[in-house]
Amino acid sequence: MTTSAKPISVAVIGAGMAGRSHAAGYRNVNTVFGAGLPPVRLAAIADANVALGEDAARRYGYEKALPSWEAVVEDPTIDAVSIVVGNSLHRPIAEALVAAGKHVLCEKPLAGSLEDARAMAELERGADVVTAVGYTFRRSPGISAIRDHVQRGELGDLSLFSGRYWCDYATDPKGPLSWRFKGGPGSGALGDIGSHIIDAAEYVAGPIASVSGASLSTQIPKRPLPLGAVVGHNAAPVSDELGEVENEDTASFTARFESGLVGTFSVSRTAFGLPNGLFFDVAGLGGRAAFDQHRPAEYLFDDAQPDARTRGARQIIAGPNLPYFAGGVPMEAPGVGASNADNFTYQARAFLDQVAGVAEPLPVCATFADALRTMEIIQAVVASSRTNGAAVTVPPVA
Ligand SMILES: NC(=O)c1ccc[n+]([C@@H]2O[C@H](COP(=O)([O-])OP(=O)(O)OC[C@H]3O[C@@H](n4cnc5c(N)ncnc54)[C@H](O)[C@@H]3O)[C@@H](O)[C@H]2O)c1
Repeated sequence: MTTSAKPISVAVIGAGMAGRSHAAGYRNVNTVFGAGLPPVRLAAIADANVALGEDAARRYGYEKALPSWEAVVEDPTIDAVSIVVGNSLHRPIAEALVAAGKHVLCEKPLAGSLEDARAMAELERGADVVTAVGYTFRRSPGISAIRDHVQRGELGDLSLFSGRYWCDYATDPKGPLSWRFKGGPGSGALGDIGSHIIDAAEYVAGPIASVSGASLSTQIPKRPLPLGAVVGHNAAPVSDELGEVENEDTASFTARFESGLVGTFSVSRTAFGLPNGLFFDVAGLGGRAAFDQHRPAEYLFDDAQPDARTRGARQIIAGPNLPYFAGGVPMEAPGVGASNADNFTYQARAFLDQVAGVAEPLPVCATFADALRTMEIIQAVVASSRTNGAAVTVPPVA
């Protein structure tokens, strides 16, 4: 680990939807929490779409834009790198970066296939650099607070979990056939957004032991080929030619946790009107909590309050009493908000805390092994869907 006060040089590979969030996150890491992190040098943003990379470098104050991820690997001055490109590229880029001695923060899902994800977890075992994965929702003040309630036993023994991630980004049949629609079953809504709600569920309620009752469906089986670059979920000029959608738009399944808790899950990228609908509700014998990403600066909490007249669910508004908030926002007052962009800053800070070996780090990032686990769960969901919903065991936590 780097321990000197020499600047840490960072680069971001991918200047698309999430790449810009990483770029902004690194820019802000020394504006949040305590001192101790060395200065950060914003070295480069790499994207095959040179104009996009140059624009991101200018916006977020990076020294230069590079035209390829290989150029990042070859730059000996760069210490730590985010991989924020389509999932099938994660493995070759991670392998090259680790071989070059660079710390890696890779976006979720870990890889484009289970085979690649297993190879990346193996790579991590032999690596002497930090290998981390971007499960941003672990940094949400509301989700972290709910996890704390569960861990302190404030909900009692858990009795039910219901999680969904419903989005509308693929409701338009004229939306371009981007990388998101390619790859086998499990690489669609399950990999793209299901990975987040599965990770959040395990983060809050513990490990999943098996899944059953899975069903996958595709509402729009063909999409027009893009005529040029596509950024994130954006519309783009398309051809008259259609190509196959290779993965699921929607999936649902039941999970049994190691604790015996049962949870139901649904994910969809074709759910009208919900731009970023990550939602979960967790109930126990003595309390209940719920989170809705469309209202990220609050969560719902209920327990047995002594005065029966005022019992009932209450809204907890994010403020300095919640994780990440104190020291994590410029105006440390309740009610000033909590945003997705803040989560990316906390994630970048946690990663660089690990890289620099700071004395009081933020909670560590998910590892490649953690993210392999999510992919094993997703593939168990796919296997369940192929066997009329039969129960499929998930490999235990290593
Ligand atoms: N944590 C989150 O909340 C979150 C949100 C969105 C996306 N993601 C993840 O981030 C990753 C990227 O998703 P996105 O929506 O930003 O994708 P995107 O399509 O918007 O951007 C990907 C970028 O990669 C570039 N690219 C493609 N091939 C390249 C190459 N060989 N060398 C350099 N650049 C190349 C493209 O030009 C594009 O600009 C995915 O793994 C996705 O799952 C995470």
